[in-house]
Formats: sequence, structure tokens, C-alpha cells
Amino acid sequence: MGQIWRAYGRLLSVWVLVALCGSLVPERLRAAEPDKPVVWVLATGGTIAGQGESQVASAYKPGTLRVETLLNAIPEIAEVAEVRAEQFAQIASQDMDVATWLRLAKRINALLQEPQVAGVVVTHGTDTQEETAYFLNLTVKSEKPVVMASAMRPPSALGADGARNLYQAIVCAGSAQAVGQGVMIVMDDKIIGADDATKVSTLEAGAFQDPDFGPLGLIYNGRPIFSRHSLKRHTAQSEFDVSELDSLPRVEVVSSYAGATALFIHAAVQAGARGIVIAGVGNGNMSAEMLNAAASAREQGVAIVRSSRIMRGPTTQWNEVDDDALGFVASWYANPYRARILLMLALTQTEDYREIQRMFRQY
Ligand code: SIN
Repeated sequence: MGQIWRAYGRLLSVWVLVALCGSLVPERLRAAEPDKPVVWVLATGGTIAGQGESQVASAYKPGTLRVETLLNAIPEIAEVAEVRAEQFAQIASQDMDVATWLRLAKRINALLQEPQVAGVVVTHGTDTQEETAYFLNLTVKSEKPVVMASAMRPPSALGADGARNLYQAIVCAGSAQAVGQGVMIVMDDKIIGADDATKVSTLEAGAFQDPDFGPLGLIYNGRPIFSRHSLKRHTAQSEFDVSELDSLPRVEVVSSYAGATALFIHAAVQAGARGIVIAGVGNGNMSAEMLNAAASAREQGVAIVRSSRIMRGPTTQWNEVDDDALGFVASWYANPYRARILLMLALTQTEDYREIQRMFRQY
């Protein structure tokens, strides 16, 4: 009988201890601790939300299905994250624009300030996904993961790829491993950094590559496995702040090619562009007519950045063009479309080409 009372007494003291410890944790924190990471999904449209008339015909309309429909098709998400969703936009990504980017960056910054939120997923069309990823990489002010998810085939097609990409993006956004990795695109099991992500196929699933630096990692068996960090400045280390901005300085991209004239440089200057990115041939070169027009635009105060239409390799300083003599900037690893974004942001801070060149070396 004595043994039973002693055992009962021990049980009671353990119970009192557990209850006491529990009451030491403030109520606010106890309520705020979900057992799965909270991940917000901001949906913007694209093929991942597309709808076709048949499983096999190629025609479809992007940006048709709502985010709830996309998420309900993947019940496995509930095992890896507590997801909250918002239909932020419903467009094909060829209609993405600066105003929407600014709204998106502000919304993500607000969400990531919430202590409960582990990360954000943005669903997006593939056509301009790499541009949005890079813009967010420079304007999100948090170490928490921001992951883009997209698809090359609409959910209505045989072999649709969106559900897998969305599931993997949510896994990545909820993972502690992804903290500090900047903005990422997750597609076809690969994790690609926004500083290198490039769409390389008009049709294939797995259309994104990282031509210069290689993937940051991969998603395997429902977990991210990272193999490297980007050494570029991004997100929390970025100097750019769009919190008070409703627009960005106008920057146009002008291509060079055999026989290219100065027509589009003149047009850009006349339209009031504050910067022009040359999608040059080779190492950021351009025809003599374009070079003269670019030099005269620079004399009128327009920022000129030389980039390249070639997919791999940097556009370097100290090459065929004397950038310092002309006041030009070389884009290094920014392709023309990333260069446009960086130049728009740079021009919110400075017009000094040396300072802009410094930014192109760092981001
Ligand atoms: C789009 O970019 O919105 C359409 C194409 C796609 O998502 O693949």
C-alpha cells in the first residue's frame, strides 16, 4: 500500500512540475508556436494557374485558377507547412510591371516581419519569373526564404509540373536551411538563386538554369539540400529600400546585332529614359553607330550599362570599350534584364557611374 502512495506522490510532483513550467511560457508564445512552419503563398497567375480545354492540346489560358484550387490539389502540403494564401494578382507574367513589383516587395516585407511567418512562396508565370526573382532579391529586407514557384504546363495538361514545383517551393520556404539564401526559384527539383536564374527553354519542363554559378541545391525526398551560398549581396544585405517608392526611374534595354543602328537609343533618350542597358554582342560590344549614340546619351546624363545577349560569362570592364573614358558601366554577371532592374534601383540612389559600377560588382 505504501509503495502505491509513494508512486502516486511521484506522479503528482511530476505533473505539478510540468504544469508550472508550462505556465512560465507566456500565453502569447504558446499560442504562437505552430508545430509546422507558417508559409504564405502569394499567387500572381501564370501557367501554374492556367487552364486548357484538353489534357493534350497545347492551347491554354494562364492565370485562370485561384490559389485555393492549386493548394487543394496537393493535400500533402498539410504535412510540411501551415499555409496561408492570398490571390495577390491574376496575370500572365508578360504583364508583370514595376508597380506590381513594388506592391509585391512591400507585401512580402510586411509578412516576413511577422515572427510567426517562416517564409513566402510567390507563384508566377515563367516568362518574367527571373526578373521578379531578382527584383525581390534586391528589395526584400529579410533573411527568411522567399521562393518562386511556376510551371511550364498548366494543371489541366498531362504531365503537369506545377503541383510538384509548388509543393517543393513550400518545403523550401518553410526550411531553416533556406534562411539567408536570398530569393530562389524552385523548379524540377532544383533550387536556383535569383542572381543567376535564366529561362532557357520555351517549352521544356525544368526550363530554368543557372548558367554561371550552378544551382544552390536541390529538393530531395521533401527536403532542401543546399550545396552552396551566393556571395552576392541580396535581401537583408541589400542597400535598396523601396518602402517609400511608387515608381522607379525609366530604364530601357536596347539590343545590338549585325547592322544595328542608333534608332532605339535615340528613341529611349527622347522618351525620357534615365538609363539604357545595351544587350550587346559578345562581351557587351555594340556597333560603332550605337556606341556613338550611347556616348552622346551619356553626355546628356543618361546612365549607360553594357551587358550581353550571351547567356554565360560576365560582361567585363577594361575590355574593347573604355568604360571609364565614356562614363559607362559594365554589368558583370547581370544579364540585360537583371541589369535593367539593378540600374533602376541604383538610379534611386545615385547618378555617379563609379558608384553604379560598384553596385554591379556587388549584386
Ligand atoms: C506566363 O509567364 O505567365 C505564361 C507562361 C508560363 O507561365 O510559363
